[in-house]
Amino acid sequence: MRLWFPISTVVYAGTGTINYMVQTSASFRRGLSNTDGSISLSEIISALSYALDLTEGAVLGHALRSCLLGMRIAAELKLTAEATSSLYFALLLKDVGRSSNANTSTTHEIVLQCDRGAGIVTKLGLGAAAAEAVRSIEEHWDGGGHPDALKGGEIPLLSRICAVAQHLDVFSGECGVEKAIHTLIERSGTWFDPELVRVAVSLHRRGVLWNHCLPSDSQDDTRRAVLDLDAGTRHTLEGGRIDQICEAFADVVDAKSHFTFRHSMGVADAAYGIAREMGLAPERVQLVRRAALLHDIGKLSVPNTILDKATYLDEFEWESVYQHPGLTRQILERIGPFREMAIIAGEHHEKLDGTGYPNRLMRADLSLESRIVAVADVYGALSEDRPYRTGLDLRQIVSILTKLAPRKLDPDCVDALLRIIAEEPAAGLIPIPVGNVPQLCA
Ligand SMILES: [Fe+2]
Ligand SMILES: [Fe+2]
Repeated sequence: MRLWFPISTVVYAGTGTINYMVQTSASFRRGLSNTDGSISLSEIISALSYALDLTEGAVLGHALRSCLLGMRIAAELKLTAEATSSLYFALLLKDVGRSSNANTSTTHEIVLQCDRGAGIVTKLGLGAAAAEAVRSIEEHWDGGGHPDALKGGEIPLLSRICAVAQHLDVFSGECGVEKAIHTLIERSGTWFDPELVRVAVSLHRRGVLWNHCLPSDSQDDTRRAVLDLDAGTRHTLEGGRIDQICEAFADVVDAKSHFTFRHSMGVADAAYGIAREMGLAPERVQLVRRAALLHDIGKLSVPNTILDKATYLDEFEWESVYQHPGLTRQILERIGPFREMAIIAGEHHEKLDGTGYPNRLMRADLSLESRIVAVADVYGALSEDRPYRTGLDLRQIVSILTKLAPRKLDPDCVDALLRIIAEEPAAGLIPIPVGNVPQLCA
């Protein structure tokens, strides 16, 4: 598989190297960065769109470049402000239903992904037009597409723009801009709306289509250009809306594998419960819950052939797994007010005795919030089915958690979780056959 991020601070547990330069949750200084919760919708969505580009087969920056290309075409069409805003978010989120890496060669799976994408856009609160645009992006002008075999003007205009934009980015990345334009013209009237092809070709010939849209362009410049486009609709999100967005992206992560279909939400519930039980202030409880919701967003980079593997992983496969907390951090750090959350989420596989990954941090490096998420993650992983075992029952989970504290997991956090379990034992956990040793790969 391709690994898209240069991970300068990531050190694999297997290498034996320790990197002490990384900023840890314990050394994070509140007030040094913007943590007051002010954040714009475009800032958070454009950053999380990076996570979608981690999915196998995608290219880093694809969502952002597609957004620029599509918005330039739209500018020629003089759309309303409302339609322009819907298109902006549809372009950033067009692949949001495709996190599962499932076989996309079947019509059934394509339809499922279209519906899933539209559902997530709706859950994000971005409106019906954006959801409809994402749902119909695989329709073809000649009626040969999916999910409804719509034809010509029956296809929502925003979907038609998204389709042209994604084609341009994919083909320019693989074959260069001239080939991208050439194939666009070839497919005019079959796949693509001829009028939109004409607009795109005109922009190309005038030399105004590709600025910041080449894979060789700076990712930061591309993102800045995307954020500048949203000047008309940028606004500060309230806390509830941020939670809603975190929950929607937790769904994207959980949809990747049926073994983790509720992992992020389950870890968030456990982390929230522990944080409250330990008496954290409401804003710290909220921080812990959001970090837990998004802790595995970097896992979108791990192929399903690894996540769903029923046997032990080889060295190469483990390396892919070891990268995901670092990727989580890199994605979330792109959102200024999420900086502390990014560090906490990126530490969810660290252990107090330095045996965790990716940075082999020690007890003193890990904040209470970070320790809470780590305990919640282990609890969630043990209670869920994995390819190599079924979920453990409560007795087994309690036994393992007790053994992991205090050396690897924080004993106070474990105690808080055990008190919650004692009060409200979870139902429906499936016992495993005796002798099946659980791995702690959450
Ligand atoms: Fe993880
Ligand atoms: Fe996890």
